[in-house]
Amino acid sequence: MHSPDTAALFAAHLHDISRRTATALAACGYEGLLLQAGEPALRFLDDQYEPLHLHPPFKAWVPLADAAGSLLYFEPGRRPRLIFHRQEDYWHKSAELPAESWLDAFDISIVGSRTAARAALPTSLARTAYIGQPFPELLAWGPAAINPQHLLHRLDFDRARKTAWEVACLREANAIGARGHRAAEAAFRAGGSEFDIHQAFLAACEQREQELPYNAIVALNEAAATLHYQQLQRRAPAELRSLLLDAGADCRGYGSDITRTWSFGDPDFGALIAAMDDLQRGLCATVHAGVDWRAMHLLAVERIATLLVEAEILRCTPQQAVEQGLATHFFPHGLGHLLGLQVHDVGGTQAGPEGGEIPRPAGHPALRLTRVLEPGFVVTMEPGIYFIDALLAPLRQGPQGSQVNWQRVAALQPFGGIRIEDDLVVTTAGCENLTRDAFAALSRP
Ligand code: GLY
Ligand code: MN
Ligand code: MN
Repeated sequence: MHSPDTAALFAAHLHDISRRTATALAACGYEGLLLQAGEPALRFLDDQYEPLHLHPPFKAWVPLADAAGSLLYFEPGRRPRLIFHRQEDYWHKSAELPAESWLDAFDISIVGSRTAARAALPTSLARTAYIGQPFPELLAWGPAAINPQHLLHRLDFDRARKTAWEVACLREANAIGARGHRAAEAAFRAGGSEFDIHQAFLAACEQREQELPYNAIVALNEAAATLHYQQLQRRAPAELRSLLLDAGADCRGYGSDITRTWSFGDPDFGALIAAMDDLQRGLCATVHAGVDWRAMHLLAVERIATLLVEAEILRCTPQQAVEQGLATHFFPHGLGHLLGLQVHDVGGTQAGPEGGEIPRPAGHPALRLTRVLEPGFVVTMEPGIYFIDALLAPLRQGPQGSQVNWQRVAALQPFGGIRIEDDLVVTTAGCENLTRDAFAALSRP
């Protein structure tokens, strides 16, 4: 993803992030910021390195995948300095800076050691805040503070509003992820195992597992009832019934977060998926700036309660299902979260730039977003229903057990559950659905 257009978008992004950072530094009493890209961790008692996930505050400034050991120094009013780590090493391929015009906005020092990196920085860092992992020489470098919480709060809070560059990256991450989902669905229809389906997803995205924004959830049949299922069974089950795939792709450090559920042919489960798809679209249609996400979550619980009654899973009114907490036994997670440089992006429950928490509604402890939506927020919309033993067993034994149609639950349990998840850019009038748009583009001739 690079063109004259994206170069202009990146320039505007850099302007915006510089302005926001300058305000945050001034409010916290610092004059400079030093961001670490990250360094790979050594495995315990081993000489092998873990895959490195670059630090999000660094990625916000520098859209490079290969930047281990690098630093970014920013002082308001001056060009940011990228201290790019490039070690001559005949064991490994040394990192390279791409020939891309966005780098023109940075002063660049290429260094091969920490000593050289220090020499590329101002003599005194006594008014500079450092954000990253501490390393042995850091104290001797003399920063004013290491990971100061008051500064992190301000930077985190601001990250909810995406710049046009960030939205472009997320749009592309959805386009890539949608290709992956299409290939994964085909692998499922061809009778593939969870492992095969995962391989198909990776191949179509042209991304390695370690490059994905989060570990994909590839759950066949009842495995879909494990919310963060991480097995990849090498053999397909004897009977294929359903697939829940929650998998996203990366673009310049920004990730998509996409879930689809498919029935292998059972019309009843297929109809339930279609009902959830309608419900999810209906919720997307109510998103716009000014909406309190806590109210959105509660609206989703009401609509899921209605779906559970209409699908004859519950034998009460939707109102009773909400009031008695029945619906949350089938929908135990939050409706969505902020998305960006991290799949669960920072600041989702933060009350303001200085920190503080906006409490979750009582009875909904898993909600990751409690803020009022603003234009430029990117959020996921991911309602679901699941048949989870650990949540249903106490319900069966309790006083409300008679409100559940257990025969129907038993018939649906082998399918695990359903989640439909899209990524939305909030606008004043509504939202842009990055995920549906990406799938629609794939379907166009
Ligand atoms: N893939 C993690 C989530 O949907 O929140
Ligand atoms: Mn999500
Ligand atoms: Mn997801």
